[in-house]
Order: sequence, then C-alpha cells, then structure tokens
Amino acid sequence: MNNDSKIFRSIVKGVGASLPKKIVTNKDLTMTVDTSEEWIEERTGIKERRIASEGETTSSLGAEAAQKAINNSGLENSDIDLIILATSTPDNTFPASATAIQSSLGIRKGYAYDMQAVCSGFVFAIEAADNAIKVGNAKNALVIGSETFSRIIDWDDRGTCVLFGDGAGAIVLSASDDASNRGVLSNHLHSDGRYGDLLYVDGGPSTSSQVGFLRMDGKGVFKHAVHNLSSAIIEAIEYNNLNINDIDWFVPHQANKRILEAVSKKVGLSKDKVIITVDKHANTSAASIPLAINDAVEEGKIKPGDLVLLEAMGGGFSWGSTLIRW
Ligand code: COA
Repeated sequence: MNNDSKIFRSIVKGVGASLPKKIVTNKDLTMTVDTSEEWIEERTGIKERRIASEGETTSSLGAEAAQKAINNSGLENSDIDLIILATSTPDNTFPASATAIQSSLGIRKGYAYDMQAVCSGFVFAIEAADNAIKVGNAKNALVIGSETFSRIIDWDDRGTCVLFGDGAGAIVLSASDDASNRGVLSNHLHSDGRYGDLLYVDGGPSTSSQVGFLRMDGKGVFKHAVHNLSSAIIEAIEYNNLNINDIDWFVPHQANKRILEAVSKKVGLSKDKVIITVDKHANTSAASIPLAINDAVEEGKIKPGDLVLLEAMGGGFSWGSTLIRW
C-alpha cells in the first residue's frame, strides 16, 4: 500500500467486448441433441450463442475486449497497472490467463491475476480492483470477464449444453479524487459452499487427470438464484439508502430470462430497466455482465451519471452486487 492518505473512488473510464465469430442458433442445436427451438427459448429466453473456434481462447477474447476498453477510455496500455481476469475457463491451469493478456497487450508493469468465482466472478473482480484503487495499490485497473464454457460443456447433456456460450467483456476502472459522486459506490459479496454440488465441474487438477464437464441441478440452482439475486438487490439498495426506483439500470448476470423476470417481480423493479442479452449470448458466466454493459453503453442506454446496479449469482454458491454511478 502507498502512504498517500487520500481515498480514491474508482470510476468507469471505458468498456469493451469481444465475441467468437461462430453463431450457434437453437435450430443448429436441434441437429446434434434431442431438443427443440421452442423448449430452449421458452425455458431460458436464449435464441443463439457464440461458440469459440480453435484458436479463440479465454485470453485471446479477453485481450481483444480489454484493448477495446482501453481505447474507449482514452488511456494508453502503459497506463494499466492492474489486470483482474474473472474466469472459470482459463487457457491452462497456470499461469493465470490474466498474465497472458498482460503480455499480449504489451503491458510490463503492475500485476495481473485470475479471479475464480464462476458466474459471480466479474462482480468479485470489481470489488478487488476497487479495493486496490482505494488503498492506492493501482491507478488504472482492467477488469475483464472472459469465458470459453463450450470447452467444459458435455455436448451430449441436453440439460446443460443449450444454456451456455463464449465471450468476453472488460471495463477500465480508474482512481479519481474528484468531488463528483461518480464511481463504484458499494460492493457486497457472499458465498455459501454448502451448495457446491448443485453446480460444479466434475474434474480438475487436484482430483482428476481431466478438466471435466459442467454438471448442474437446474431446478435447485433456479430456486437459489431467484432468492440470492433478490436479496443482493435489496441489500445494495438499503446500504445506499436508496429506493428501488432510484436505480437507472440493472445489469444482472445473464443466466436465464425466467430467473430475471422472477427477480424483477419479487423486488418490484421495472422490466424496462433490466438489461437483457441472454437471448443472443446465452450464459457466458463471468463474461455476461461486461458483455451486457458493453451493449447497453453502445445502445446509449447507460449514460454518465446513471445509477447502475450489477448483480450476479453462480456456482459455489457465490453471489453479490456492485452499485456504480456511471
Ligand atoms: N430440450 C428439451 N427437453 C429438455 C432439455 C432440452 N434442452 N433439457 C431438459 N429437458 C427435459 C427434461 O429432461 C425434463 O423432461 P422429463 O420431464 O421428461 O424428465 C423436462 O425437460 C423438464 O426439465 P426440468 O429440468 O424440470 O426443466 P426446468 O423447467 O427446470 O428448466 C432449466 C430447466 C435448466 C432451463 C432451468 O432449471 C434453469 O434455468 N435453471 C437454472 C440454470 C442456471 O441458470 N444455471 C446457471 C446459474 S449461474
């Protein structure tokens, strides 16, 4: 930690995204697995997803998204002194894929590491970057969510293979000591390891010689997701002394449209304020929030000064929220 006693606020300077080229529609999936376009769309809201081809990796997608976010921020690559990559699908067991991104962006200073909190990873990574900025350890942080879940999907399991996609998104968070109210206002994180067996990968370096495949109890996850996401929203609202109507945009982890509708109903938020991209990206785990942010900014929805609440829930279980004045 440096000795400068000034408390910095982390403000969003830029956003970026990167998607694999290959689009796989629900109809495409009906050719390889016993499912229907209607089943997938009705149960999940998903219409299509991107799937990484050979050569498209978590670090290559993450680096492209990160470069766009830096370009968008007005900073230079050499200004970045922290990279946190939220991912559960790193290129290799180690080194951290964040260091591969650091290298490919030509960044030679600061530090880089991977954050593994599955679908909540992006919110966990923002919290870590925000804390590093506040204590003076970093000035310009790249927070990236990048995933290639297609590589840990059992393509014979129709209960899971239709739900996920690949992609990456990134934001640049910078230290600001200006008097405006912009920036990260709060982070609230939670985990409860008792539910690890409802959503997990059945392999990994310490237990098996295989990377493994994603396994899920869909109904169990659904029930906890609605409860945990609703409580995360209420926690953030109450902590910041706000009313739910004060929030301009909700950017939830994009797992399933029905989960988002159930959460909206439970906490009484207007559907018009919920950013939804699950229809075209499916569930991209830690990448889903920054991909949705990027879309919302490009479409002119999220604007400077808006109050934006990010919420996520995923394997572990882990869940939480971040409130940002854009
Ligand atoms: N196509 C057609 N039928 C399918 C299917 C598919 N892709 N996948 C499952 N089915 C079948 C099941 O086999 C079952 O058939 P049965 O009644 O003959 O046994 C039937 O559809 C209903 O399955 P069920 O699992 O009860 O459906 P559901 O309404 O719970 O929906 C999910 C399944 C996965 C869409 C839903 O549970 C869900 O979204 N869960 C949350 C998942 C999630 O968000 N995970 C990530 C969190 S980060």
